[in-house]
Amino acid sequence: MSQTHTRPMPTIRVIKLSKSYRVGRQAVPAVRGVTLDVPDGKIVTLLGPSGCGKSTTLRCIAGLERPDDGEIFFDQRPLFSRARGIAVPPEQRNVGMVFQSYAIWPHLTVFQNVAYPLQVRRLPPRQIAERVREVLALVGLLGLEDRPGPYLSGGQQQRVVLARALVYRPDVLLLDEPLSNLDAKVREQVREELRSLQRRLGITTLYVTHDQLEALGLSDVVAVMQAGGIVEMGSPQELYARPAHPFTASFLGEISFISGTAASADGDMVEVLTSCGLLHSLRSERALAGKPVVAGVRPEHVRLSRDRPRDQTNVLEGTVVSSLFEGTRVKCRVAVGEVTLLAYGDELFTLNERLYVSIEPKHLMLLPHLAG
Ligand SMILES: Nc1ncnc2c1ncn2[C@@H]1O[C@H](COP(=O)(O)OP(=O)(O)O)[C@@H](O)[C@H]1O
Ligand SMILES: [Mg+2]
Repeated sequence: MSQTHTRPMPTIRVIKLSKSYRVGRQAVPAVRGVTLDVPDGKIVTLLGPSGCGKSTTLRCIAGLERPDDGEIFFDQRPLFSRARGIAVPPEQRNVGMVFQSYAIWPHLTVFQNVAYPLQVRRLPPRQIAERVREVLALVGLLGLEDRPGPYLSGGQQQRVVLARALVYRPDVLLLDEPLSNLDAKVREQVREELRSLQRRLGITTLYVTHDQLEALGLSDVVAVMQAGGIVEMGSPQELYARPAHPFTASFLGEISFISGTAASADGDMVEVLTSCGLLHSLRSERALAGKPVVAGVRPEHVRLSRDRPRDQTNVLEGTVVSSLFEGTRVKCRVAVGEVTLLAYGDELFTLNERLYVSIEPKHLMLLPHLAG
């Protein structure tokens, strides 16, 4: 028997969740009014810098922290509601959770580690053996049942922890920076395995990370968090290419900003008056005429050339500040007036070389200017 699609997975629904911690006599807000859905079978990621409230949100859903306000549902089932005085204890939520600082029990074997949650639930030994084999097969650890914890690699230990979280067939999976203990290469491999496992199981998953590559690579939907609130949500592609907020734009990858004012719309284009001159972006509902904006461009969309490009709309002149060979690309910084633009290309330039910079209008994002 396989775990795959044996039953419908619930939607996680979080409504106006708030939580402060008491520190001495002060209440320090950690989560401020978070509203979020994880649709049935999908993986949603909370992405944000350290301290923005990701773990607190997750722990409230698991029932390990008591929220100050708001509601939490798995499908129609309320797990927490301040208004209705509901707070279901964690052991009745049937949640699989992997913590940031996960650990396997070093004195136990792989089998014993994974079997533990089933022993706590007093399943018969035959059924335990069956379920453990099944879940070890899922995470690719079959054959290592008798191996003691300390004789496993970091990636294998991580898979034991994941197997332990899955073995009792939780309704939802909550993962808090589960890859942060792994070194870069293993992290990438386990990330791909995790993604494929989540898809195969179709288990509703809320994933927490501060790593934008992890969020982009794993998620159906990314929710960007800052200072206890969700800034914006969307598919990885949407958020990367068309963020609504400068914070999202810069948190999801390298970007250069040029501030300016959105002027009139001319046909399909919006004119933006900047310190680098007049630039053009595609007409966008966000670019309100007369409003201060920031124009943003990703380094892979900044083209550099020694000759003036023809038939290009946004052509600027700049001076090379740095040009660095990085193997798969050359990373270049070019000063254009008071602004420095980052460009990825395949050509090395010399310091102080004068060259042309061009940006296609479709790659020039317009975002509201942040006050302050
Ligand atoms: N047990 C706690 N007691 C007091 N403050 C806490 C506690 N846990 C977290 N915080 C504070 O709450 C805020 C959010 O923390 P956390 O949810 O852990 O953020 P993240 O997981 O995004 O790094 C931070 O300011 C953190 O210092
Ligand atoms: Mg955390």
